[in-house]
Amino acid sequence: MRQHNRSFLGSFSIVFLLLAFGSGCNKSEPGKPSGTGSEKRTKSNYTIGMSQCNLGEPWRVEMNAQLKEAAEKHPELKLIFKDAQNDTLKQRAHLEEFVSAGVDLIIISPKEAQPLTEPVAKAMDAHIPVIVLDRRLLGDKYSCFIGADNKKIGYAAGEWILKKLAGKGRVVELMGLMTSTPGQDRNRGFRDAIAGTGIEVVFEADMKWLEPDARKEMESALSRFPKIDCVYAHNDPGAHGAFLAAQAAGRQKEMIFVGIDALPHEGIAYVTQGILDATFQYPTGGMDAIDNALKILRGESVPKEITLGSRVFDKENVAAGGVELK
Ligand code: FRU
Repeated sequence: MRQHNRSFLGSFSIVFLLLAFGSGCNKSEPGKPSGTGSEKRTKSNYTIGMSQCNLGEPWRVEMNAQLKEAAEKHPELKLIFKDAQNDTLKQRAHLEEFVSAGVDLIIISPKEAQPLTEPVAKAMDAHIPVIVLDRRLLGDKYSCFIGADNKKIGYAAGEWILKKLAGKGRVVELMGLMTSTPGQDRNRGFRDAIAGTGIEVVFEADMKWLEPDARKEMESALSRFPKIDCVYAHNDPGAHGAFLAAQAAGRQKEMIFVGIDALPHEGIAYVTQGILDATFQYPTGGMDAIDNALKILRGESVPKEITLGSRVFDKENVAAGGVELK
Protein backbone atom coordinates (compact mmCIF):
# COMPACT_ATOMS: atom_id res chain seq x y z
CA MET A 1 0.00 0.00 0.00
CA ARG A 2 2.70 2.48 0.96
CA GLN A 3 4.25 2.24 -2.49
CA HIS A 4 1.13 3.76 -4.11
CA ASN A 5 0.55 7.43 -4.76
CA ARG A 6 -0.54 8.96 -1.45
CA SER A 7 -2.83 11.70 -2.70
CA PHE A 8 -4.70 9.28 -4.95
CA LEU A 9 -5.12 6.84 -2.07
CA GLY A 10 -6.13 9.64 0.28
CA SER A 11 -8.99 10.87 -1.88
CA PHE A 12 -10.01 7.28 -2.66
CA SER A 13 -10.34 6.46 1.01
CA ILE A 14 -12.36 9.60 1.72
CA VAL A 15 -14.82 8.73 -1.06
CA PHE A 16 -14.99 5.17 0.21
CA LEU A 17 -15.63 6.27 3.77
CA LEU A 18 -18.34 8.71 2.69
CA LEU A 19 -20.06 6.01 0.67
CA ALA A 20 -19.86 3.44 3.42
CA PHE A 21 -21.12 5.64 6.26
CA GLY A 22 -23.57 7.58 4.07
CA SER A 23 -25.37 4.42 3.07
CA GLY A 24 -25.23 3.04 6.59
CA CYS A 25 -23.55 -0.17 5.55
CA ASN A 26 -20.66 -1.76 7.36
CA LYS A 27 -21.38 0.34 10.40
CA SER A 28 -20.07 -1.40 13.45
CA GLU A 29 -21.60 -0.45 16.77
CA PRO A 30 -19.03 -0.44 19.50
CA GLY A 31 -19.52 -3.26 21.98
CA LYS A 32 -22.05 -5.04 19.80
CA PRO A 33 -20.87 -8.47 18.74
CA SER A 34 -21.26 -9.06 15.06
CA GLY A 35 -20.81 -12.00 12.82
CA THR A 36 -21.11 -15.71 12.93
CA GLY A 37 -20.08 -18.38 15.36
CA SER A 38 -16.81 -19.02 13.57
CA GLU A 39 -15.76 -15.38 13.90
CA LYS A 40 -16.53 -15.64 17.58
CA ARG A 41 -13.55 -17.80 18.35
CA THR A 42 -11.06 -15.25 17.11
CA LYS A 43 -12.74 -12.09 18.34
CA SER A 44 -11.74 -10.19 21.42
CA ASN A 45 -15.20 -8.93 22.46
CA TYR A 46 -17.56 -11.29 24.22
CA THR A 47 -21.26 -11.31 24.95
CA ILE A 48 -22.42 -12.99 28.14
CA GLY A 49 -26.09 -13.77 28.66
CA MET A 50 -27.16 -13.71 32.32
CA SER A 51 -30.45 -15.33 33.26
CA GLN A 52 -31.60 -14.25 36.72
CA CYS A 53 -34.54 -16.17 38.18
CA ASN A 54 -36.10 -13.10 39.73
CA LEU A 55 -35.30 -9.59 40.87
CA GLY A 56 -37.94 -9.42 43.57
CA GLU A 57 -35.46 -10.00 46.38
CA PRO A 58 -32.60 -7.72 47.42
CA TRP A 59 -30.17 -10.62 47.32
CA ARG A 60 -30.65 -11.06 43.56
CA VAL A 61 -30.49 -7.34 42.91
CA GLU A 62 -27.14 -7.44 44.70
CA MET A 63 -25.99 -10.40 42.58
CA ASN A 64 -26.75 -8.50 39.37
CA ALA A 65 -25.06 -5.36 40.70
CA GLN A 66 -21.91 -7.38 41.47
CA LEU A 67 -21.95 -8.98 38.03
CA LYS A 68 -22.34 -5.58 36.39
CA GLU A 69 -19.61 -3.97 38.47
CA ALA A 70 -17.18 -6.82 37.78
CA ALA A 71 -17.97 -6.87 34.05
CA GLU A 72 -17.50 -3.13 33.71
CA LYS A 73 -13.85 -3.57 34.60
CA HIS A 74 -13.46 -5.52 31.36
CA PRO A 75 -14.43 -3.45 28.32
CA GLU A 76 -14.26 -6.56 26.15
CA LEU A 77 -17.32 -7.98 27.96
CA LYS A 78 -20.91 -7.17 27.20
CA LEU A 79 -23.41 -8.48 29.71
CA ILE A 80 -27.07 -8.97 28.77
CA PHE A 81 -29.41 -9.43 31.73
CA LYS A 82 -32.73 -11.22 31.61
CA ASP A 83 -35.13 -11.44 34.56
CA ALA A 84 -37.37 -14.51 34.60
CA GLN A 85 -39.65 -12.94 37.22
CA ASN A 86 -39.77 -16.17 39.20
CA ASP A 87 -41.26 -18.03 36.25
CA THR A 88 -39.48 -21.25 35.30
CA LEU A 89 -40.99 -21.33 31.80
CA LYS A 90 -39.77 -17.81 31.16
CA GLN A 91 -36.31 -18.78 32.33
CA ARG A 92 -36.29 -21.78 30.00
CA ALA A 93 -37.22 -19.46 27.14
CA HIS A 94 -34.40 -17.08 28.05
CA LEU A 95 -31.90 -19.88 27.74
CA GLU A 96 -33.19 -20.76 24.30
CA GLU A 97 -33.02 -17.11 23.25
CA PHE A 98 -29.40 -16.87 24.38
CA VAL A 99 -28.54 -20.00 22.40
CA SER A 100 -30.18 -18.76 19.21
CA ALA A 101 -28.54 -15.35 19.63
CA GLY A 102 -25.19 -17.16 19.76
CA VAL A 103 -23.89 -15.56 22.97
CA ASP A 104 -20.36 -16.56 23.96
CA LEU A 105 -21.21 -17.70 27.47
CA ILE A 106 -24.26 -18.04 29.71
CA ILE A 107 -24.52 -17.40 33.43
CA ILE A 108 -27.67 -18.75 35.05
CA SER A 109 -29.02 -18.55 38.57
CA PRO A 110 -31.84 -21.04 38.08
CA LYS A 111 -35.15 -20.94 39.89
CA GLU A 112 -35.53 -24.71 40.08
CA ALA A 113 -33.23 -27.64 39.47
CA GLN A 114 -35.15 -30.13 37.35
CA PRO A 115 -36.88 -27.97 34.70
CA LEU A 116 -33.77 -25.93 33.94
CA THR A 117 -31.40 -28.85 33.56
CA GLU A 118 -32.38 -29.60 29.96
CA PRO A 119 -32.11 -26.08 28.47
CA VAL A 120 -28.67 -25.71 30.05
CA ALA A 121 -27.63 -29.07 28.59
CA LYS A 122 -28.80 -27.84 25.18
CA ALA A 123 -26.68 -24.72 25.48
CA MET A 124 -23.68 -26.91 26.30
CA ASP A 125 -24.50 -29.06 23.25
CA ALA A 126 -24.40 -25.84 21.21
CA HIS A 127 -20.85 -25.30 22.58
CA ILE A 128 -21.86 -22.36 24.75
CA PRO A 129 -20.21 -22.64 28.16
CA VAL A 130 -22.58 -22.24 31.11
CA ILE A 131 -21.77 -21.04 34.63
CA VAL A 132 -24.42 -22.04 37.17
CA LEU A 133 -24.71 -19.69 40.14
CA ASP A 134 -26.21 -20.34 43.59
CA ARG A 135 -28.96 -22.90 42.89
CA ARG A 136 -27.93 -26.20 41.35
CA LEU A 137 -29.22 -28.23 38.43
CA LEU A 138 -29.49 -32.01 38.19
CA GLY A 139 -26.43 -33.87 36.89
CA ASP A 140 -23.26 -32.17 35.78
CA LYS A 141 -23.79 -30.85 32.27
CA TYR A 142 -22.52 -27.31 32.81
CA SER A 143 -19.07 -25.71 32.80
CA CYS A 144 -18.78 -24.55 36.37
CA PHE A 145 -20.93 -24.28 39.49
CA ILE A 146 -20.37 -21.42 41.93
CA GLY A 147 -22.10 -21.20 45.30
CA ALA A 148 -21.74 -21.58 49.04
CA ASP A 149 -22.25 -24.89 50.81
CA ASN A 150 -25.90 -24.79 51.88
CA LYS A 151 -25.74 -28.03 53.86
CA LYS A 152 -22.90 -26.60 55.88
CA ILE A 153 -24.80 -23.34 56.45
CA GLY A 154 -27.94 -25.26 57.53
CA TYR A 155 -25.82 -27.39 59.87
CA ALA A 156 -24.16 -24.31 61.36
CA ALA A 157 -27.57 -22.70 61.88
CA GLY A 158 -28.71 -25.86 63.67
CA GLU A 159 -25.66 -25.85 65.93
CA TRP A 160 -26.08 -22.12 66.66
CA ILE A 161 -29.75 -22.62 67.61
CA LEU A 162 -28.96 -25.69 69.69
CA LYS A 163 -26.45 -23.69 71.70
CA LYS A 164 -28.63 -20.61 72.02
CA LEU A 165 -31.60 -22.64 73.25
CA ALA A 166 -29.35 -24.71 75.54
CA GLY A 167 -30.25 -27.94 73.79
CA LYS A 168 -34.04 -27.78 74.03
CA GLY A 169 -36.87 -25.96 72.29
CA ARG A 170 -39.68 -25.77 69.76
CA VAL A 171 -38.75 -24.55 66.32
CA VAL A 172 -40.71 -23.30 63.33
CA GLU A 173 -38.82 -24.03 60.09
CA LEU A 174 -39.76 -21.79 57.17
CA MET A 175 -38.23 -23.43 54.14
CA GLY A 176 -37.09 -22.00 50.84
CA LEU A 177 -38.60 -23.36 47.66
CA MET A 178 -38.14 -27.11 48.07
CA THR A 179 -37.73 -27.69 44.33
CA SER A 180 -34.56 -25.60 44.57
CA THR A 181 -31.38 -27.07 45.97
CA PRO A 182 -30.57 -24.42 48.61
CA GLY A 183 -33.96 -25.12 50.24
CA GLN A 184 -33.29 -28.86 50.25
CA ASP A 185 -29.74 -28.46 51.58
CA ARG A 186 -30.54 -25.86 54.25
CA ASN A 187 -33.22 -28.23 55.51
CA ARG A 188 -30.97 -31.33 55.41
CA GLY A 189 -28.02 -29.66 57.15
CA PHE A 190 -30.24 -28.22 59.87
CA ARG A 191 -32.02 -31.51 60.52
CA ASP A 192 -28.69 -33.34 60.73
CA ALA A 193 -27.42 -30.86 63.33
CA ILE A 194 -30.46 -31.15 65.61
CA ALA A 195 -31.03 -34.91 65.17
CA GLY A 196 -31.25 -36.66 68.52
CA THR A 197 -31.27 -33.42 70.52
CA GLY A 198 -34.04 -31.69 72.46
CA ILE A 199 -34.75 -29.36 69.55
CA GLU A 200 -38.08 -30.22 68.00
CA VAL A 201 -39.46 -28.84 64.73
CA VAL A 202 -43.14 -28.33 65.57
CA PHE A 203 -44.13 -26.60 62.33
CA GLU A 204 -42.59 -26.56 58.87
CA ALA A 205 -43.78 -24.88 55.70
CA ASP A 206 -42.44 -24.02 52.24
CA MET A 207 -42.48 -20.21 52.02
CA LYS A 208 -40.81 -20.35 48.58
CA TRP A 209 -38.16 -17.78 49.63
CA LEU A 210 -40.85 -15.09 49.82
CA GLU A 211 -41.41 -12.75 52.76
CA PRO A 212 -45.22 -12.44 52.35
CA ASP A 213 -45.55 -16.25 52.24
CA ALA A 214 -43.34 -16.58 55.32
CA ARG A 215 -45.49 -14.09 57.18
CA LYS A 216 -48.66 -16.00 56.31
CA GLU A 217 -47.17 -19.37 57.32
CA MET A 218 -45.96 -17.87 60.58
CA GLU A 219 -49.47 -16.61 61.33
CA SER A 220 -50.68 -20.24 61.09
CA ALA A 221 -47.83 -21.43 63.30
CA LEU A 222 -48.61 -18.77 65.91
CA SER A 223 -52.28 -19.67 65.98
CA ARG A 224 -51.50 -23.37 66.42
CA PHE A 225 -48.68 -23.21 68.96
CA PRO A 226 -48.93 -21.26 72.21
CA LYS A 227 -45.19 -21.56 72.70
CA ILE A 228 -42.49 -21.20 70.03
CA ASP A 229 -38.83 -20.76 70.94
CA CYS A 230 -37.24 -20.18 67.56
CA VAL A 231 -37.92 -19.48 63.91
CA TYR A 232 -35.35 -20.89 61.50
CA ALA A 233 -36.02 -19.38 58.07
CA HIS A 234 -34.02 -20.38 55.01
CA ASN A 235 -33.49 -16.72 54.09
CA ASP A 236 -33.59 -13.31 55.76
CA PRO A 237 -36.76 -12.11 54.02
CA GLY A 238 -38.46 -15.24 55.44
CA ALA A 239 -37.13 -14.57 58.95
CA HIS A 240 -38.24 -10.95 58.69
CA GLY A 241 -41.75 -11.95 57.54
CA ALA A 242 -41.98 -14.31 60.54
CA PHE A 243 -40.81 -11.54 62.86
CA LEU A 244 -43.53 -9.21 61.56
CA ALA A 245 -46.20 -11.88 62.11
CA ALA A 246 -44.98 -12.51 65.67
CA GLN A 247 -44.78 -8.79 66.35
CA ALA A 248 -48.35 -8.30 65.11
CA ALA A 249 -49.40 -11.01 67.59
CA GLY A 250 -47.34 -9.37 70.35
CA ARG A 251 -45.20 -12.51 70.65
CA GLN A 252 -41.87 -11.55 69.04
CA LYS A 253 -40.04 -11.49 72.40
CA GLU A 254 -40.99 -15.08 73.15
CA MET A 255 -38.73 -16.47 70.41
CA ILE A 256 -35.49 -16.00 68.50
CA PHE A 257 -35.27 -15.47 64.73
CA VAL A 258 -32.52 -16.91 62.53
CA GLY A 259 -32.12 -16.29 58.82
CA ILE A 260 -29.66 -16.73 55.94
CA ASP A 261 -28.15 -14.30 53.38
CA ALA A 262 -26.61 -11.57 55.58
CA LEU A 263 -26.72 -8.73 53.10
CA PRO A 264 -25.29 -5.63 54.81
CA HIS A 265 -28.45 -3.56 54.28
CA GLU A 266 -30.80 -6.47 55.03
CA GLY A 267 -29.92 -9.38 57.35
CA ILE A 268 -26.92 -7.73 59.01
CA ALA A 269 -28.94 -4.56 59.57
CA TYR A 270 -31.72 -6.68 61.13
CA VAL A 271 -29.22 -8.23 63.56
CA THR A 272 -27.88 -4.79 64.47
CA GLN A 273 -31.44 -3.57 65.04
CA GLY A 274 -32.29 -6.61 67.20
CA ILE A 275 -34.91 -7.95 64.74
CA LEU A 276 -32.95 -11.10 63.92
CA ASP A 277 -30.76 -12.98 66.42
CA ALA A 278 -28.48 -14.41 63.76
CA THR A 279 -27.96 -14.50 60.02
CA PHE A 280 -25.62 -16.68 57.99
CA GLN A 281 -23.91 -15.15 54.99
CA TYR A 282 -24.76 -16.52 51.56
CA PRO A 283 -22.48 -14.76 49.07
CA THR A 284 -24.00 -14.06 45.68
CA GLY A 285 -20.89 -15.09 43.75
CA GLY A 286 -21.34 -12.29 41.19
CA MET A 287 -17.67 -11.29 41.09
CA ASP A 288 -16.50 -14.91 40.99
CA ALA A 289 -18.82 -15.60 38.05
CA ILE A 290 -17.23 -12.85 35.96
CA ASP A 291 -13.67 -13.90 36.91
CA ASN A 292 -14.38 -17.45 35.83
CA ALA A 293 -16.33 -16.42 32.73
CA LEU A 294 -13.26 -14.53 31.56
CA LYS A 295 -11.04 -17.54 32.14
CA ILE A 296 -13.38 -19.78 30.16
CA LEU A 297 -13.61 -17.25 27.30
CA ARG A 298 -9.80 -17.02 27.17
CA GLY A 299 -9.60 -20.77 26.93
CA GLU A 300 -8.23 -21.30 30.43
CA SER A 301 -9.54 -24.13 32.56
CA VAL A 302 -11.69 -23.50 35.64
CA PRO A 303 -12.71 -25.83 38.45
CA LYS A 304 -16.02 -27.61 37.94
CA GLU A 305 -17.08 -26.61 41.44
CA ILE A 306 -16.27 -23.37 43.27
CA THR A 307 -17.42 -23.31 46.89
CA LEU A 308 -17.80 -19.90 48.50
CA GLY A 309 -17.30 -19.35 52.23
CA SER A 310 -19.82 -18.08 54.78
CA ARG A 311 -19.89 -16.14 58.05
CA VAL A 312 -22.30 -16.01 60.97
CA PHE A 313 -23.46 -12.64 62.30
CA ASP A 314 -25.08 -12.42 65.72
CA LYS A 315 -25.43 -9.84 68.48
CA GLU A 316 -22.01 -10.67 69.93
CA ASN A 317 -19.97 -10.54 66.73
CA VAL A 318 -21.85 -8.29 64.30
CA ALA A 319 -19.88 -5.15 65.14
CA ALA A 320 -16.64 -7.05 64.52
CA GLY A 321 -17.81 -8.28 61.09
CA GLY A 322 -19.10 -11.71 62.05
CA VAL A 323 -17.23 -15.00 62.33
CA GLU A 324 -16.22 -17.30 59.51
CA LEU A 325 -17.80 -20.76 59.39
CA LYS A 326 -15.20 -23.46 59.79
C1 FRU B 1 -33.15 -15.02 46.58
C2 FRU B 1 -32.90 -16.15 47.48
C3 FRU B 1 -32.01 -15.83 48.62
C4 FRU B 1 -31.53 -17.18 48.95
C5 FRU B 1 -31.26 -17.72 47.57
C6 FRU B 1 -31.26 -19.18 47.48
O1 FRU B 1 -33.97 -15.41 45.52
O2 FRU B 1 -34.14 -16.60 47.96
O3 FRU B 1 -32.65 -15.18 49.66
O4 FRU B 1 -30.46 -17.24 49.79
O5 FRU B 1 -32.28 -17.21 46.78
O6 FRU B 1 -31.17 -19.60 46.18
